[in-house]
Amino acid sequence: MDFLKELTGSHSIKNICVLSGAGISKESGLKTFRDQNGLWENHDIYEVASPLAFKNNPTLVYEFYNQRRRQLLSDEVTPNAAHIKLGELEASGEYTVNIITQNVDNLHESGGSKNVYHMHGELLKARCIKTGRVYQWLDDLTGESRCECCHTKGNLRPDIVWFGEVPHHLDEIQQILLDCDLFISIGTSGLVYPAANFVTMAKSAGAYCLEINPHPTNNAQLFDYTIDKTATEGVIKIVENLLHIS
Ligand code: OAD
Repeated sequence: MDFLKELTGSHSIKNICVLSGAGISKESGLKTFRDQNGLWENHDIYEVASPLAFKNNPTLVYEFYNQRRRQLLSDEVTPNAAHIKLGELEASGEYTVNIITQNVDNLHESGGSKNVYHMHGELLKARCIKTGRVYQWLDDLTGESRCECCHTKGNLRPDIVWFGEVPHHLDEIQQILLDCDLFISIGTSGLVYPAANFVTMAKSAGAYCLEINPHPTNNAQLFDYTIDKTATEGVIKIVENLLHIS
């Protein structure tokens, strides 16, 4: 059975937009934010992920992201089948595939994807608060770290979009949403805007909208179809259908 054709009917698919959230990296060993024992159960968002938190207690904020950077760089964390299959889909050249991710890990890139838009920033980058210059950063970041632009201690912050800040790449993202004919949301709770609204934008532009999530989400009713499975199970099924393997 051609599963996707049954779902999408007369939709001709050429441009695919994937929106990913923390759930896609869960099977790689990274915690989500809002599931049981998630990051926001054990940390107060406003103490570690806001500009005010960084002003009031930079050490705590640096340490929160240092721990996550160390974990990401450890041997335990590798891309899972969902990241790898999406990389294969893009590499096949049969479709244009753009990935908009809310994740700050680099697992889509390690899985082979090239067109990745990190709307909430990247854990392996640091930004100078004076010049805005962004550096690749693999070590711990502290108040003693110096940027190459002003050589001053304390000017570097994680290149993460905190609560109250504007996400990155919004202009490119809007264009991708307008151009796509298949929108696939994977492993995101649909609680954080503007990402939670992307399904509406893609739908208004005529895209077929699919969701992969083993649990009900906040905006499930906006999708044409939900695959209630984990990211690896759902993505393998979709990509094999798109590449006519099954
Ligand atoms: P959440 O923690 O809000 O949601 C994670 C989602 O992943 C939930 O809907 C789970 O049901 C789903 N999930 C769990 N296991 C899964 C699996 N194996 N496969 C697929 N899905 C699974 O994370 P996000 O929606 O990504 O922002 O959160 C959005 C933003 O809120 C984050 O980028 C972060 C956070 O505060 C910032 O830090 C700026």
